[in-house]
Amino acid sequence: MTAAGMSAALELRNLRVTLGTVQLVRGVDLDLAPGETLGVIGESGSGKTLTCLSLLRLLPRGMAAQADVLRLKGTDLGGLDEAAFRKLRGRGIAMIFQDPVGAFNPAKRIGWHMRAVLARAASDGAWQRRAAAALSDVGIAEPERVLRRYPHQLSGGMLQRALIAMVATLAPDVIIADEPTTNLDNIIEQQILALFRSLQQRLSSALVFITHDMRVAALVSDRLAVMYAGQIVETGPAEAVLHRPLHPYTQGLIATADALASGAAQLAEIPGQPPSVLDPPAGCAFRPRCASARAGCEAPQALRSPGEARQVRCLLYD
Ligand SMILES: Nc1ncnc2c1ncn2[C@@H]1O[C@H](COP(=O)(O)OP(=O)(O)O)[C@@H](O)[C@H]1O
Ligand code: SF4
Ligand SMILES: [Mg+2]
Repeated sequence: MTAAGMSAALELRNLRVTLGTVQLVRGVDLDLAPGETLGVIGESGSGKTLTCLSLLRLLPRGMAAQADVLRLKGTDLGGLDEAAFRKLRGRGIAMIFQDPVGAFNPAKRIGWHMRAVLARAASDGAWQRRAAAALSDVGIAEPERVLRRYPHQLSGGMLQRALIAMVATLAPDVIIADEPTTNLDNIIEQQILALFRSLQQRLSSALVFITHDMRVAALVSDRLAVMYAGQIVETGPAEAVLHRPLHPYTQGLIATADALASGAAQLAEIPGQPPSVLDPPAGCAFRPRCASARAGCEAPQALRSPGEARQVRCLLYD
C-alpha cells in the first residue's frame, strides 16, 4: 500500500455494478482524503446513486458490485462479513439520502432515533440534552418539541436536518450525501447547503456530495468528479474544473448551468440524450452528442492526465 493509501479516508478502484449482463457502473475510481469534499456530478441515470449504494452494500436486489480495491481508512471493506460491515455503517460510513423519509422508522419519534445514535455516547439521563443540542446545532428551533414528533409530522427540510444531525452525531470517517437538497425549495436548499458547509468546518469526515446541479457542486466541493454513462469522465480541483472544464461533456454541463443562471431560454440543455444502458455506444459514450467527435472516438477511452491533479477521458488530450 502506498503512503497516500494509508491515510486515505476512502479508496475505491474499478467499481463495476451489473444487473445481469447490463453494466450500470463501468470502472469507477474514487479517492478521498480525510476532511475533503468530493462533488460527484452528472445527469440523471449516470450511475451516481448506484456508486454510493455499492459503498454501503445497499444495492437493489439483483444487482452485483465488484471492485479491485475498496478501503475505508485502510480497512479492506471487501473482506468484512455482514456483521462486521453492519458495525461500520453509521460510524465508519454513513449516507444522507435525497428523500430522508426512508432513513426513519415511521412508527418511532425523532427522539427514539436520536437516542439510538447516542446510545454509546451518553448515559441515560444525558441523552435528551445531547439530542436537543445536536438538533439545535443543525438549526432546528425548539429541539425538545421536535424530539417528540414522528417523522411524518416534519417537513422535508426539517427531516433532512434531523437526519444530518444524526449523521453528524456519529461523525463517521466518510459521509455520502446523495442529492440531499434536490427535493427542497430554493430557500431551504440554500439553508441546507450552508449547513453542509458548517459541518465541513465542524467534523473531520470526508464527504461525497452527489448532485446534478453545477451551482450546488461549486458551493461545497474541494474536488469534482464528473460522471457520464457509468464512468468518470473528468476529475480535478473544483475551481479548475469549473473555470477550465476539459471534457466536452463537462463543458456542456457548465455552459448549460451558465445559460440557466442568466435566464436564457435557449441552449438550456446539451443536445441529445444520454445513451441507453442496454445498448451503450462502442468507444466514447459521449460520442453521439459530441461536437468534437472525430476518428478514433469509436475506441474505448482511458483517463488521461493532462495537468496537475486533473484527469479526463477524451482523446483530444493525447
Ligand atoms: N433498481 C433498478 N433497476 C434497474 N435499473 C436501475 C435501477 N436503479 C438504477 N438503474 C439504472 O442504473 C443506471 C444508473 O442509475 P443511478 O445510479 O440511479 O443514476 P443517477 O443516480 O446518476 O441518476 C440508470 O440507467 C438506471 O436506469
Ligand atoms: S473522445 Fe471524442 S467523442 Fe468522446 S468526448 Fe472526446 S472528442 Fe468527444
Ligand atoms: Mg441518483
